[in-house]
Amino acid sequence: MSKIITLKSHKCKSLTGKIMVPGDKSISHRALIFSAISIGRSEIDGLLESDDVIKTLKALRNLGIKIVKIGEKYFVDGNGGIFTKNPGNLFFGNSGTGARLMIGLLATKNIALTITGDKSLSQRPMLRVLDPLTEMGANFSKNDGKLPIKILESFYYNSIKFKSKIGSAQIKSSILLAASNIKGVTEIEEEIPSRDHSEIMLKYLGAKILTKKTKNSKLIKLNGPCVLKCNKINVPGDFSSAAFLIIATLLTKDSNLTIESVGLNYFRTGLLDVLSKMNAKIKISEKSICNGEAFGNIEVYSSNLIATRIDKKISARLIDEYPILFVACSFACGVSELTGLEELKFKESDRLSAMTEALTKCGVKLEKKKNSLLIYGNKKQLGGCKITTYNDHRIAMSMLIFGMISEKPVSIDDMSMIATSFPNFRSLMESIGAKLQVV
Ligand code: S3P
Repeated sequence: MSKIITLKSHKCKSLTGKIMVPGDKSISHRALIFSAISIGRSEIDGLLESDDVIKTLKALRNLGIKIVKIGEKYFVDGNGGIFTKNPGNLFFGNSGTGARLMIGLLATKNIALTITGDKSLSQRPMLRVLDPLTEMGANFSKNDGKLPIKILESFYYNSIKFKSKIGSAQIKSSILLAASNIKGVTEIEEEIPSRDHSEIMLKYLGAKILTKKTKNSKLIKLNGPCVLKCNKINVPGDFSSAAFLIIATLLTKDSNLTIESVGLNYFRTGLLDVLSKMNAKIKISEKSICNGEAFGNIEVYSSNLIATRIDKKISARLIDEYPILFVACSFACGVSELTGLEELKFKESDRLSAMTEALTKCGVKLEKKKNSLLIYGNKKQLGGCKITTYNDHRIAMSMLIFGMISEKPVSIDDMSMIATSFPNFRSLMESIGAKLQVV
């Protein structure tokens, strides 16, 4: 049996530099998918070339869409929503976004094919998208809501009014993609508004879409079928990847890092609001808007963090940042209380359990309840152990950052999943002063 090559992180001195993080994962998936159903050749700059996004790219190619890379850019020849090939089976690896969005897109195309994924994705809930899509007239062999799922032929589709209680952009986007192909107005009401990259891109490409904020929710109305027109799409740096560098910089002494051209979409940057309350020194500069998305530079300085209290209201705005936020709370002064964490259980791993296990192993005092966590912060934490990542990229990166601050090094059981979202994590961290050892 071949030995797994993985990483160990050591306590580091200061982190400094001016860097860029790879492209935003959510926007990269959408740039490929929405370009594929537009009319004409779209140009995508800054696409994230990670395992997850490449799975979506390959799926679209297998459906007959021509996608080429010329220089640093990707060009997608959209076919107005017509797929000329049916490969029978599409594999999405670890990617919930790829699978759920493509299920929505294909659900109203009157074609039959099977959607599959890796072991982790095959354990994640799919009924959350299959149920509203069934209401729209789509037909599935549901396999108890777990992959593999067969999309079956269906002839009659209808628009729906859907009330989303979870606050999930994957559910919303799956419905919007299905709705983009059928006649009528589909309405989605979100109790907890989630990232709005799909709405922004649909509008940018010419869809008839309206969004409205009401007192307790957000309303989205899409008038289908959509005729989308190709365009240029610039993908900003991924804020969720930048989050690891932000926390690492805040927690190490005499550090000063600038991360350029990062996506600053309001629904993605809840972490900045939380960190500001925790006493973090962070400045935003060079703000601009491109293809409807906010871009900017993030300047981060070492800070003495204090504990915080956060509830469910902000959860959708920092859903992917919880693992690294738990690390920040571990080194902050005081007891942090985080509630409304239920959605963390349905990510690439059960992140609430996986992070509780990892931090406890590293010596952090924690109290975990059903959907909440108390973290007893301390400037000094022990570390000195090997972490089970449960094949989850964000657990892996979060705990490597922990090892850069703790007294003793921290290693992870497997580093391969990091490539699903942040392929150059190791080299970028090393370029600003991190000590990551291959073991
Ligand atoms: C994503 C939405 C979020 C997030 C995921 C990417 C997206 O999932 O956790 O990493 O691109 O729409 P949910 O919508 O399931 O919360």
